[in-house]
Amino acid sequence: MFDCDPGQDDAISLIMALSPGSGLDIRAITVVAGNTSLVKCQRNARMIAQICGRVDVPIFAGRAAPLKLPLATAEEVHGVEGLDGLDIFEPDLPLQSENAVDAIIRLCRSVDDIVLVPTGPLTNIAAALTRAPEIAERISEIVIMGGARAEAGNITPSAEFNIYVDPHAARIVFDAPVKKTTFGLDVTHKALIRDEHVDRIASLGTEMGDRLTGMLRSDYAEYDRAKFGTSGTPIHDACTTAYLLQPDVFTFKSVNVQVEVDSPLTRGHTSVDFWQMTERPRDTQWAVDVDAEAFFELMIGRIAAYTD
Ligand code: BDR
Ligand code: CA
Repeated sequence: MFDCDPGQDDAISLIMALSPGSGLDIRAITVVAGNTSLVKCQRNARMIAQICGRVDVPIFAGRAAPLKLPLATAEEVHGVEGLDGLDIFEPDLPLQSENAVDAIIRLCRSVDDIVLVPTGPLTNIAAALTRAPEIAERISEIVIMGGARAEAGNITPSAEFNIYVDPHAARIVFDAPVKKTTFGLDVTHKALIRDEHVDRIASLGTEMGDRLTGMLRSDYAEYDRAKFGTSGTPIHDACTTAYLLQPDVFTFKSVNVQVEVDSPLTRGHTSVDFWQMTERPRDTQWAVDVDAEAFFELMIGRIAAYTD
């Protein structure tokens, strides 16, 4: 199940995962506040599932704010609706009445070998693990987009956005006795979508291709280029789905991750024990490298699976 705050990169991750023939068995999409408010993020998630023709996947809204801190959002990156470049509409696909945290607990208890895929702040996942700690042993893996080691930060000099927004939640998740696989900025910044990739998506000539082209040619695509001087745009959250579909696109190192919660200067910093300087469990596969061209082949292939 996916837990997200769409967001263009969350949307692309979902579009890949929900695509015809992806082979993934998606039991739920749960939504958390992050890139924008919970109200807009859950509307965006329903819109994406509807565009994908996946009205069979239930969507649940969860926490509207981090565990202890006020919500910080990223409309300057994603646009006021959270999905700059896409025509926004009110989807018919309903929101489930059950809260996302309850749904996560229920699904963890009832589905064997469940994989959780959070691509927003970790608030919902942490709330579930706190309320029902025994679900940890039912979860086979948590596949996270968040954190940074070599790349330092994208919201402060020392923190990545998802971890910065709710560091208390991130600490609970990284401390939980569960296998984690984590895609931080170190690897997402190595897979930058460039004009030639977007041109290929545009040339598909399909409705889905056109929608994605709109997002990938919007101000969103310019943000990282303008702010960080990159030659393309990171599609951070799509790394999680790419990993589920084709894990060998990435290489990993086994590490332990601790999250800074107290210091105002380094709030949300991920302290990655890369060189085994502590005795803490190496329970996180930290993504260190990606075959970027294989990643984009996979992404474009999944987008092309939507034929009109
Ligand atoms: C992460 O923050 C959000 O803005 C993106 O959706 C992604 O999950 C990247 O730092
Ligand atoms: Ca996200």
